[in-house]
Amino acid sequence: MSKGIKIAIDGPAAAGKSTIAKRIAEKLDFTYIDTGAMYRALTHKALINDINITSDHELTSLLQQTDIRLQPSLNGQIVFIDGKDCTDVIRSQQVTSNVSEVSAHENVRHLMVDKQRKLADTTGVVMDGRDIGTAVLPDAELKVFMTASVEERALRRHQEDQKRGIHTPIEQLKAQIAERDRADSERKVSPLKKAEDAIIIDTTSMTIEEVIDEIIGLAEMRMKR
Ligand code: C5P
Repeated sequence: MSKGIKIAIDGPAAAGKSTIAKRIAEKLDFTYIDTGAMYRALTHKALINDINITSDHELTSLLQQTDIRLQPSLNGQIVFIDGKDCTDVIRSQQVTSNVSEVSAHENVRHLMVDKQRKLADTTGVVMDGRDIGTAVLPDAELKVFMTASVEERALRRHQEDQKRGIHTPIEQLKAQIAERDRADSERKVSPLKKAEDAIIIDTTSMTIEEVIDEIIGLAEMRMKR
């Protein structure tokens, strides 16, 4: 029988991390944890409660009073905030354009990382985000840094949005993605950065299946060790 391992998948915005991570977790029967959804959930709650998102203190006390739950489902993952299904609303433009500001605060990150480590305290886990290999699970057996050109990422997001009935011009998506990458890479606390021992996978010219096969192959090698 294969043993459960921890797989950390980091990378810039819209690189396909969650699509891939979810599929890998299904194939290996591991737990999938989308850490971006957790920062999005806090951002959403802060915005609807008129919390000052430049205040680490206000956000931290809000987070302490917030129950964020991730539940696997056939169509991916359902995100509950205080028991309410908020899966779609956390992907809104408003949340997307404010989440990098929320996630840059030191104490917000400490609390989130604590929560994420507790969730990962299971046999097999696939976790995706920005600081998983560097800060959340530095002892993960497999670390992947997934990238793709900004043009390709904007195109993929555009196609995804169109399926959901949202029509944002590609140029606008490109600018938003580039700005989020800049904010996430330049923040002081655990910025988006490749872990030294992470394997880079540039998915620009790869299909989803090819990326999944490559990561599963790497995971299988680690599970045999
Ligand atoms: O992965 P996703 O695009 O949903 O993440 C939304 C935002 O949450 C990122 O742009 C980043 O600001 C933040 N994030 C983070 N650390 C993580 C995961 C996400 O700072 N581990």
